[in-house]
Amino acid sequence: MKTLLVDLRSDTVTRPTDGMRAAMLKAPLGDDVFGDDPTVNGLQDMAAELLGKEAALFVPSGTMSNQLALRAHTRHGDEVIGHSGCHMFNYESGAASALAGVQFRLLASDDGTLPLDAIKTSIHQTDDPHYAPTTLICLEDTHNACGGVPLPSKHIAAVAAIAKEHNLPLHLDGARFFNAITAKGISARELAAPFDTVSICLSKGLGAPVGSILVGREDAIQRAYRFRKMYGGGMRQAGVIAAAGQYALQHHITRLSDDHRRARLLAEHISTLPGFHVDLTKVQTNLIYFGLEENHHLSLLSPTGKPRLVHELLELGVAITGGPYRLRAALHLDVDDAGLEMACNAFSRVADV
Ligand SMILES: Cc1ncc(COP(=O)(O)O)c(C=O)c1O
Repeated sequence: MKTLLVDLRSDTVTRPTDGMRAAMLKAPLGDDVFGDDPTVNGLQDMAAELLGKEAALFVPSGTMSNQLALRAHTRHGDEVIGHSGCHMFNYESGAASALAGVQFRLLASDDGTLPLDAIKTSIHQTDDPHYAPTTLICLEDTHNACGGVPLPSKHIAAVAAIAKEHNLPLHLDGARFFNAITAKGISARELAAPFDTVSICLSKGLGAPVGSILVGREDAIQRAYRFRKMYGGGMRQAGVIAAAGQYALQHHITRLSDDHRRARLLAEHISTLPGFHVDLTKVQTNLIYFGLEENHHLSLLSPTGKPRLVHELLELGVAITGGPYRLRAALHLDVDDAGLEMACNAFSRVADV
């Protein structure tokens, strides 16, 4: 493989900037398991204030943050309503059933929304012992598997109204919360308002090396605090990484529109290549999902076991994920306009145009 020049596999691949590293170096530290780390405490306060919530809890990953929300809101044997493509069900190693002991009631759609009538008919609030009681509804915004699309605000309001009517808490997997508010042109408080808890990730578009924050109602965060320790997420001088999180919240939110602009340009470029297809209506944030037509020579597996497209791009220093027919490129802090141009040229060369 040639040197990796443009890494589009995920927005998690970013390295801390010089400014972020400097903030990490001078962060005041303490033992966070004793609640003594001023930088962690500062980050939690900053996140709660930004989203307009009562409390926040710093955790190592988005997976832990989502799973703590499940523990905070549910009991073993409960049922949780979520989207069929949601990260919490599909990509968290079965933790919802293994650790929280809940089952998901999955509802499908192409755009990450939950069909409203199906939510209503799925809710079990009955004494009939055949049914697992519904105790939580989850949304994901932006919705990764549905193309990185932001959920319409009206839809979130409609789901929140159903949750309220049934006295059910509402959790948001906001791994890309700030991409969502950037695409929708709304404030963090506006997006967070209808939710009891929101998980935000610092290590995706915001460019921090580690960390997520569960933000929400005081009682839910108190319960999550206990389970964070149980899940092994109690960290000691975690201010070293929390400082990167503070820096990310202060400096890396407004720049997300650059990632969205570059994703759009790359998607438009890919859509012009023969045998490639991209649903441009879905490219609204930093993720691009695209496909190859059936039997396209670039979808065949290379000797490395990767589709030829992935392999040949890698030879030109450009990394993407997926295959053989559904592929993904993610734009982020470490891809500037020169990187975008390199990526476009590599796609053209591999597609032979
Ligand atoms: C939508 C969504 N939620 C949660 C996560 C989990 O985050 P982590 O990798 O930090 O556990 C991811 C990771 O990519 C994600 O895309």
